[in-house]
Amino acid sequence: MKVLGIESTAHTLGVGIVDEDDVLANKKSMYKPEEGGIHPRKASEHHYQHALEVLNNALDKAGLEEEDLDAVAFAQGPGIPQCLEIGAVMARSIAERYDLKLIGVNHCLSHISIGTRTTEAENPTTLYVSGGNSQIIEYRNGRYRIIGETLDIALGNALDKFARKLGYPHPGGPEIEKLAEKTDDIIELSYPIKGMDFSFSGLTTEAERKIGEVSDEVLANSFQEHAYSAVVEALERAMAQEGSNEALLTGGVAMNSRLREMVETMCEQRDAEAYFPPAEFCMDNGAMIAHQGLVELKDGRGTKIDDSGKRPDWRPDEVEATWIEK
Ligand code: ATP
Ligand code: FE2
Repeated sequence: MKVLGIESTAHTLGVGIVDEDDVLANKKSMYKPEEGGIHPRKASEHHYQHALEVLNNALDKAGLEEEDLDAVAFAQGPGIPQCLEIGAVMARSIAERYDLKLIGVNHCLSHISIGTRTTEAENPTTLYVSGGNSQIIEYRNGRYRIIGETLDIALGNALDKFARKLGYPHPGGPEIEKLAEKTDDIIELSYPIKGMDFSFSGLTTEAERKIGEVSDEVLANSFQEHAYSAVVEALERAMAQEGSNEALLTGGVAMNSRLREMVETMCEQRDAEAYFPPAEFCMDNGAMIAHQGLVELKDGRGTKIDDSGKRPDWRPDEVEATWIEK
């Protein structure tokens, strides 16, 4: 079965194509804000302006035409409403025009599915950290449960905001990483964990207030150490509670080498395994949506045009994950 997947939840417009054996294509175009954070209208303009180009790039790469496909999957949510709309319209148009099956999938669950497809992980505790989401997710009794999450802004968003204050353009995560690598010194900041949850808004404001008092390198390093320790501590607790021996790290912030190192060390100490999908599958991408679509279609699911409206606040635990037991 050949499934085309469309990702458009935030700043990435991605189109991927998968079948049971291979990822046949994974193409994208990213909206980059000229200044500040993601501007919803401008991001959606980027997406529709690049829709045909990215779609054709993916079809060319896979050596396929629309007629060769069996289904179209799209990220129905969660995400920025204006951006979700573009992916939904693309998917509906292609499905109608070529008489293909349509399926709307949850973006967060797609990150986990592509993570297990591209690594050896089987039933991991997932730490999903990106610009728009920060969650610890585990499968229990028919659903993926959110065991811990940010109480305010996402980790990637916090890094981007802090980096912007230091004068770096979006995305700021890699800039903070480069600065932090230049020093081992840290200063104490507030530790952003609240039980199984975490929060990054206060830490960001605190770090921003110290700009000029302490070097940028030390501030960046301190920010990373505090924020990453908090999410890894929550991840460890979630694993301990459930007796899990697999951790999966995904989302854009999963590209960070210091965070990977912390997850690896924690797993070594617990005799657990840490899994990191290849970078192209950590960041938002179309192949993960296509793969999730494939999995759900094989489970007998599908989405009617009437039910294919965007779902900006769709939480992964609202989905009955019936495909897992099979
Ligand atoms: P989502 O829709 O899942 O919230 P997103 O739109 O934020 O995703 P991603 O590509 O998953 O897109 O993640 C982008 C985020 O990852 C940005 O906040 C960016 O700063 C962060 N990031 C990218 N590389 C690194 C890195 N090396 N270290 C830390 N953060 C990083
Ligand atoms: Fe994402």
